[in-house]
Amino acid sequence: MDPILWNDWHVVADATALQCDRPITTRLLGVPLTVSRDAQGAVHVVGTDGSPIVSDVRHGFVWACLGKPARPILSIAELAEPDRCVTTAGSFGVHVSAGRVIENFLDLGHLGHVHAGYLGQEPQTAVEPYEVARLPDGGVHASGCKVFQPVSSPTAQSGFVVEYQYKVERALTASLYKSSFSQPDRFDVIYLFAQPLDEEHAIAHVLEIFIDDGVSPAALRAFQQFIFLQDKPILENQIPKRLPIGQRMEMPVLADKTSVAYRRWLAELGVTYGTVGAHDGGLPA
Ligand SMILES: [Fe+2]
Repeated sequence: MDPILWNDWHVVADATALQCDRPITTRLLGVPLTVSRDAQGAVHVVGTDGSPIVSDVRHGFVWACLGKPARPILSIAELAEPDRCVTTAGSFGVHVSAGRVIENFLDLGHLGHVHAGYLGQEPQTAVEPYEVARLPDGGVHASGCKVFQPVSSPTAQSGFVVEYQYKVERALTASLYKSSFSQPDRFDVIYLFAQPLDEEHAIAHVLEIFIDDGVSPAALRAFQQFIFLQDKPILENQIPKRLPIGQRMEMPVLADKTSVAYRRWLAELGVTYGTVGAHDGGLPA
């Protein structure tokens, strides 16, 4: 098992949906887990033999680490801003590797096609040049991405050119910063935590940290669910189900710049779980 994943924290449940009398069963990196809340409100994560798994509750989610946590659960600066509407916005099961879920989230090129009429629109689907750099402590940072969005959020009253930034701070965590409709000089923030159930199944957990312009958590959740249901069939049709990270992976094109940087970083981190091509020198031609 890849140490970088085994010793990292992963979201395993939406804590806001976890009720005391309703434990849930799930999996993390192929390991079956039960997540429960006791009568005092404390959350427990155990393996099939009842042994406790290292866990914590942060940012509205239950987190678990199967090994020894190499780093703390990531902190999110925008959560400290008082004028934010914050909500968990859904946990979506998808038959594809967790890396594929992250990659799709980073893909600017799909917005005008998969989310046409909302997050993009024909014929304005061309992706303008943007910057991709490395974060100071590793990870990927894409900035200066601009895309016209007819309906960028639940409170958007008209289309506008939305600025996007992406960050990939952990192997299976990505965040998206997009201009707020009500305050275009500030960003609404969406975090995606991809829980690897196994190498070809994942749950996409979404956290939304929006500028509070009167938007409700229910509206944010409904919008996100509508958007993700457009992504799900596209994601599940990807072949292979695992993320190609080998040397001979698909040729990079402009729209996939962030994706290429993400795949390269995973390869550097030594991630093999849920990928293809890491050991065999690349995909067959
Ligand atoms: Fe999408």
